[in-house]
Formats: sequence, structure tokens, C-alpha cells
Amino acid sequence: MKISVIGCGYLGAVHAAAMVELGHEVVGIDVDAKKIAQLALGLPPFFEPGLPEILTSAMATGRLRFSTDISEVAGSRVHFVAVGTPQKPGSYAADLTYVDAAVQALLPHLGEGDLVVGKSTVPVGTATRLAGIIAASGTGATLAWNPEFLREGFAVKDTISPDRLVYGVAAGEPGEHATALLNEIYAVALAADTPLVITDFATAELVKVAANAFLATKISFINAMAEIAEVTGADVTQLADAIGYDNRIGRRFLGAGVGFGGGCLPKDIRAFTARAEELGRGDSVAFLKEVDAINLRRRQRAINLTVSALGGSVYNAKVAVLGLSFKPHSDDVRDSPALDVAVQLHGLGANVVATDPQGIENSRARHPQLTYSTDLEETLREADAVVLVTEWPEFRHLDPAWVGGLVKNKIVIDGRNSFDAATWRAAGWTYYGLGRP
Ligand code: UGA
Repeated sequence: MKISVIGCGYLGAVHAAAMVELGHEVVGIDVDAKKIAQLALGLPPFFEPGLPEILTSAMATGRLRFSTDISEVAGSRVHFVAVGTPQKPGSYAADLTYVDAAVQALLPHLGEGDLVVGKSTVPVGTATRLAGIIAASGTGATLAWNPEFLREGFAVKDTISPDRLVYGVAAGEPGEHATALLNEIYAVALAADTPLVITDFATAELVKVAANAFLATKISFINAMAEIAEVTGADVTQLADAIGYDNRIGRRFLGAGVGFGGGCLPKDIRAFTARAEELGRGDSVAFLKEVDAINLRRRQRAINLTVSALGGSVYNAKVAVLGLSFKPHSDDVRDSPALDVAVQLHGLGANVVATDPQGIENSRARHPQLTYSTDLEETLREADAVVLVTEWPEFRHLDPAWVGGLVKNKIVIDGRNSFDAATWRAAGWTYYGLGRP
């Protein structure tokens, strides 16, 4: 099928290449000329495992192209809207400028039977409003909402073999038409028995924010337990293991540490509270404000631990910060707890040297005041303290004896509870975890 994808960021670029992999013909559109120029050469503008490979193979088929010119969508039957919905400056609400602009830009190019498919995460009610705009355009096109659940770092796998598909469609014949087109697009996943939920617009929009709100709540729950562990001498990692054996709870997303960040969870829970307040139901999700507050407190906890480990001040101390991206296998530093910890320690007068396998470039663009190093040895050499804030495998598997030979003080603050405390202590380190004795 001929498809267009509007917005070629972490979501859209992967979606475009993956749709070619599934046999379709795709044009990817973005207003960012630099990004499009790179993609047109088959080069991903960001780090995502597996994307270079599927981009190269998709380009080789001749069925994938990229353009800044929206009129290139002509001929496509389905148009995915995959633009960003960041937090509005000075507000908790989502900024819908890019979604609205994408739909407006599409309107002159839509024809009878075309389908616009929203993938962006939006406040509930947006799809109904956009469907009204498309209906009023008299183009004969319709709308569906098909939320995306991909995780950065696993985006290619999550797009090609999703764990579920959700279609939010209109009632009656337009909904049947939308369902038929989406079934054709996702034929490979459906043939593999991927669960499919066909529902209304509001449910589809809510599925996405509810899923992210649940995940954020799960992380903040275990981080709240970490706070209790800290005043009782308990160990939150063992607590998580023990409750995680209960299948109803499950161990995933019970990793206590400096908390969640990224371009999704933090802004999605805030936008959800803002939308619920608009709907007169603020109380129903008021707990998400607490989820947010717990999350932000954990970054502060890692900073406080570092300060107290260094005798009450980090001024002029060399602090080696391991990690900048919001999670491993990503170069994304949006709302990254790791980068935040590095910046705040720098603000307290520490001589921060930060390293990350992929996140340095994006961090430098936002915080040029920090010192970055691509060299792990240089980062660690003569450090007064080591702070782990993103659990990349290359950090998790560090040999404490080797690191001990480089640093000035064997003080480690494990902001992701990723190191084996006993092994580090046995190698002579003073080890601090979050929510661990
Ligand atoms: C999240 C959701 O997991 C995806 O399902 C969703 O599609 C995506 O947002 C989105 O809305 O587009 P992502 O932002 O890629 O995906 O990252 P996650 O893997 O969910 O991790 C989020 C944050 O939580 C990271 O900072 C991670 O370090 C942190 N985290 C995760 C913890 O602190 N503890 C855990 O146990 C797990």
C-alpha cells in the first residue's frame, strides 16, 4: 500500500522504514530539512538499534523516500501523523501545534477514501476534533487513531512485531473502511496473531496515556518503597524481587533508581492531569502528580548522596558521571534524570566529567557548560566519586578493581541499583545505592 508518514522523529522514521519492511511503499515527510537530507541518504538522524539496517534495506527496495514537501503525499491512501506532542512551555498540557499543523498541511492533498491515522500521543478528545476538521474539508477522507507503544531502544522490533494493535475508528461504514485499510497495513502482525482492539476514538487515545501512566506509577511505586527502605534499613532491590515473583505484580518496571525520563512518560502523565482537570475529573488522576513528585525526588536523592559521600560538599571535587541518556540503548536526553543529575552537580561546583555511549552530542547541545568525555578511562581518572545514572551494559559490567585503579576515592553512587553491592564493597569501595542499606 502507498503510505505517507508525517513527522520523522523517533517514532515516524522507524515507522516509515518498518512499513517498507512489511511490504508497503512509503514517503516520509518532515519540516526539518537536515533530518530529511540525512534520512534520504539512508542515515538515521538519531541512535536506534536496528534502524540503520532496516533503513538501508528499505532504501534499496526503492519503496522508501523522504521529503520536506508535503505535496509528495499525493497518491498515498493512508497518512500516518507521527509528529511530537511536547509539554507546552509554562503548562502541564500537551502542545498540539505540530499535530494540528500536520493535519492542516495534509488537507489539500487528501482524496476520497483516504485515511489519516493519528499515531501521536494526544489528549483525549483530539481525534474527534480532528475528525470534524477532516469531515468539514469535503475531501471525502476520514480519520482513525492508532496509538504507538514502541519503546526507544526496541523501536524496530516493537513496530514490526507489536505486542498489540489498537484502532480507534468512527462508527459505521467509515470505521469499517478504516479497519480494512489498517488490517491491510498490519497484515503481517495480524497473521502472527497479534491481539487487536478495535474501539472508539476516546478509548484509543486513553489506552496510550493510561499505559504510560501505569508504567510511570509502577516505577514511582517502587521508588516510594525505596524512600521507605532508606529510613528502615531495608533493601528495595530484594523487595522488588520478592513482590515481583507474584505474577499479578511482575518484576518489570520495578527498577528503583533515579527514576523515569524521556520524551514520553514525564510529559504524558502531566498532559493527562491537565486534560483530566479540563474535563472536571482532576481528582481521578491527581495521584499522577505524586508519581511525578516521587520521580523528581529520586534525582535529588542521588545528588544528596553524592554530596554527603564527599563530606558535605562537592565543590571542586571531580565527579565521574556514567550515563546521560534517559535509558540505555538510546541517545535521547529529553527530561533525562542522568543529565539532570550531572547538571545539578555541576551547579553545586563539582568538576563533573560525564560520559555516555550515545548521549554526549545531544547533552552538549543542551548543556555546553558540562565537560564530556568519550573516553571512560579519562572520565574515571582521579575521580573523587563515581555516579552511575544510566545502566548501559558497558557500565553495568565494569570491573570494580579496574575502576578502583583509576579513581582517587573509591566512592560509588549507583543511581540505577545496577552494580552488585557486595562485589564493589569487596573491592574496597564505599557503595551507595538508592533504597539500599
Ligand atoms: C515509553 C513506554 O514504555 C512505551 O510503551 C511508549 O510507547 C513510549 O513511552 C511512548 O510513549 O512513546 P520509552 O519512553 O522508550 O517508552 O521508555 P521506557 O522503557 O518506558 O522507560 C522510561 C523511563 O523509565 C526510563 O528513563 C527508564 O530508565 C525508567 N525506568 C524504567 C525506571 O526507572 N525503572 C524501571 O524499572 C523501568
